[in-house]
This record gives sequence, C-alpha cells and structure tokens, in this order.
Amino acid sequence: MLRVVVFASGKGSNLQNLIDVSKNSENLFKVVGVISNNKNSNALTISENEKIVGFNFTVMQFLSEEDFSNAILNELKKLNCDLIVLAGYMKKVPTKIISNYQNRIINIHPALLPNFGGEGMFGEFVHKAVLESKNKVTGATVHFVNEDYDKGEIILQEKIPVLDNDTTESLAKRVLEVEHRILPKAVIMIANDKIRLK
Ligand code: GRF
Repeated sequence: MLRVVVFASGKGSNLQNLIDVSKNSENLFKVVGVISNNKNSNALTISENEKIVGFNFTVMQFLSEEDFSNAILNELKKLNCDLIVLAGYMKKVPTKIISNYQNRIINIHPALLPNFGGEGMFGEFVHKAVLESKNKVTGATVHFVNEDYDKGEIILQEKIPVLDNDTTESLAKRVLEVEHRILPKAVIMIANDKIRLK
C-alpha cells in the first residue's frame, strides 16, 4: 500500500477528496499524515476528523531551515512515507526535503503547465492571468516537484474550456473539479506502478 503524506495550507478540498478516494481504493494507497504551515488550516481540521496525524510546521518554529527540514524528514520517516503530495501548499519545499524525496513529491497546479506557472502563480492569480490571456482553454496539472517552482516532469493534465462569461471564481470552481479528478488518478497510477518513482 502506497503511504502518502499530504502538505496543505488552506481549505484542504484536495486532501479530503484524496482521503475519500483512498477509502474506495482497496487499500491501494492511504493518507498517513498531513503537514501544514498554517495551524488554522482546514486541512488540519480534516486530519483530526479523519484521525490522521497532522503537524503544524513552520520554519519560524526552528532556528534554521535545516532544523525545520530535519523535523519534517523525521516525521516522514516515522510514517514510512512513500509519496509526498502538495495540495495547496503555499510554501517552497526546502531543497533538503526534495533531495531526500527525489521524484517522490507531486504537486497539483490549477493551470496547464508550463503556462501560468512559477512563483506567485497560485489561486486566483492563475485564473486571472488565464482570463487576461484570452486563452479559450485552461485546466489543471499534476507534476513531479523539483527545485524549480512548477517545473518538474508533468504526470497528468486535463483541459476544460474557458467560457465567455467566466470569472476568476467560476473558473476556479471548474478547475478545482478537474483537480479532484486528476490528483487521485495520478496517485493511483503511482500506487499501481504505472508511473515509476525513480
Ligand atoms: C488548489 O486550487 C490547488 O490547485 C492550489 O491550491 C488550491 C488548493 O485547494 N495549489 P484546496 O486547499 O485543496 O481546497
């Protein structure tokens, strides 16, 4: 069974969706931990409700980023984490964690990378940029995480049309539905070894 730890900062709808899908996945994968930089995030409330261990880790709690990274790596090790899933995690993952989990960290991005990605491109900023670009298509992307924001190898994408009367809110809502489809699909592909964790 693939043991997944989810990093999330906000509402946690992708986290809840992943937990719900795992319950019907014949134990293919299991969310075994939640890590958030935001002690008030709904993601940590979800972890409590689902009786999944949750941690609030911020670099400010530590004397250095090294200590911060080591604290997280220590918990990941104790959880026997196979795969880290970033689901609305608003902080950069420290290099030490990326190198310890090379090609075992995936992220969900609310646009069709490589377009509309990179630093500052998150949440409604992404959908605003898509609307301003007059592009008629948008969607979501699951990709591996490396040292560069949103630049890792793409695993899955799904396109949806941009409608003439779309607003950032209406687009965000429809793109989130895509995210809820492709993120669990990518985790299941990894759990089924259809995508090799190098
Ligand atoms: C999603 O739009 C995701 O693409 C972005 O952050 C949002 C997370 O939403 N990275 P939620 O917290 O999973 O509801």
